[in-house]
Amino acid sequence: MNDIERRSSAAAEPPATLAAPMDVHAELDDLRATIDDRLVAASSLDELDKVEAETIGRRSRVAELRRGLGALDPDVRRLTGLAINDAVAELSVKIETRRRSLEDEAEGERFAAEKVDVTLPGRVPRRGTYHLVQQVMDEIIDIFVAIGFTVASGPEAETDWHNFTALNIPKTHPARADSDTLYLDYGDEDESVLLRTQTSPMQVRYMQQHEPPVYVVSPGRVFRRDEVDPTHTPVFHQLEGLAVDSDITFADLKGTLAYFVHQFFGPNQRVRFVPNYFPFTEPSAEMHASCFNCDGSGCRVCGSSGWIEMLGCGMVNPRVFEAVGYDPTEVTGWAFGMGVDRFAQGRHGIADLRYFWDGDVRVLEQFQ
Ligand code: DAH
Repeated sequence: MNDIERRSSAAAEPPATLAAPMDVHAELDDLRATIDDRLVAASSLDELDKVEAETIGRRSRVAELRRGLGALDPDVRRLTGLAINDAVAELSVKIETRRRSLEDEAEGERFAAEKVDVTLPGRVPRRGTYHLVQQVMDEIIDIFVAIGFTVASGPEAETDWHNFTALNIPKTHPARADSDTLYLDYGDEDESVLLRTQTSPMQVRYMQQHEPPVYVVSPGRVFRRDEVDPTHTPVFHQLEGLAVDSDITFADLKGTLAYFVHQFFGPNQRVRFVPNYFPFTEPSAEMHASCFNCDGSGCRVCGSSGWIEMLGCGMVNPRVFEAVGYDPTEVTGWAFGMGVDRFAQGRHGIADLRYFWDGDVRVLEQFQ
């Protein structure tokens, strides 16, 4: 057989696929008839993708039928092709409709899960507050700042020289003893280092760094080897004050501290100055204020004396000026030091200092 004969004999045979068109229509009808049920049964987008792949996808029976079109007579091919296209178009519309409704459902579920009720009241964060000692400290500082004082703070680990020697505290003074002062062991230092027992060393540091005139207050923590009891803690707070100028007198000291008491406790408070001794002031005094609670008649707050011990003070000892390099014939000054914790305790009627450090927020919450 030559080529021509072979071709014509192939063409002469009734094509195997000629019978196919009827089957194709039947298959398409069958797809149409079952698609609704299959779509309803697809309950997720994944399942719907599967139905799509099986019915009109690239590996579906429909795709196979399409590939078979080439073997059909042109007329049959055209009609069959149209029938397939119609069916695919119809199925596609149904699949897309189902897809949209599944997507809507999924979105609805997501919205429900993420739903936020904007009308719910918010959770109000618990409000913090400054510690009562800090509040009282700030109040005292504000009074002095308002009349021209600056604020300076210094180290809590202090040298023996700043804490004692420069303040004219003799080597033999009991305050220097291990039983009173917490020393830090820094090895073979000539100068021992300790936890400052008072804020007074800031007088020394400030004057070393500044020329007169000086008007400064210095708040801070101080440390002493005290047993803890209702009125003692080994860590407490002081505020130091220092005024140095060319013509400062004891009258300035009295006037300024009386002004402070009137601002802090009230305009009717009386003050008195009782002679005392401090190595770094000469003369020295203790200042008392009439009790803010009983106005001087005697009560629990003032221990029935009618007076409250406020602070130690005096005229700066010329030896302190010499230690910091000031000329005591040129300048005079006054200084004071007060314990802040006891003020806070007395003013707010707190029976035991330990409440301040127990960490029970119910105590602090009362002083917002
Ligand atoms: N530093 C003294 C103390 O801790 C308090 C004090 C007294 C400070 C007299 C002063 C002062 O500045 O002049 O007990």
